[in-house]
Amino acid sequence: MKIVLLGYMASGKSAVGKILAKKMNLQFIDLDDFIEEKEQQSITDIFKTKGEIYFRQVEGVCLQELLNLSKKCIISVGGGTPCYGNNLELIKEKAISFYLKASINTIFERLKHETSQRPLVATIGIDNLQEYIAKHLFERASFYDEADFSIVVNDKDLKEIVGEIDELL
Ligand code: S3P
Repeated sequence: MKIVLLGYMASGKSAVGKILAKKMNLQFIDLDDFIEEKEQQSITDIFKTKGEIYFRQVEGVCLQELLNLSKKCIISVGGGTPCYGNNLELIKEKAISFYLKASINTIFERLKHETSQRPLVATIGIDNLQEYIAKHLFERASFYDEADFSIVVNDKDLKEIVGEIDELL
């Protein structure tokens, strides 16, 4: 069985995944990195030159490829991954999933420093960012809540979060 980490942007999926993988002696794969390598383009440039619909198609295909690998591994997916196509069903079928649940405020505090690296929020001004996150998270929460386990992450350090996941496995 694979382990999938999901949740909104800046919830710590990749950072947690790397440490968890080390602890469990498993390979860690970040879906966004995998897409960038496959497409030979950054996520930002894919959005810019080919658009979000193209990105979502590639994201679905890459997710399927990773979930079909025979080896056990830890995969962190993008914030939107479980919300499109049949991605959530695939994740549920092929992996144990953990929702890294961050509050609107936690996400805002983290994202405000790095909107430029994230195409979906790159054009949202700081004054509108909190409201954007609140609405977007509300739209996506029902997908995230389908994960097998929810881990509240807010003020916890990475080790603590990894420890909680490890205990549930
Ligand atoms: C997205 C999140 C990003 C990346 C893309 C779209 C989203 O991943 O997949 O920019 O729809 O929330 P992270 O959650 O790793 O930032």
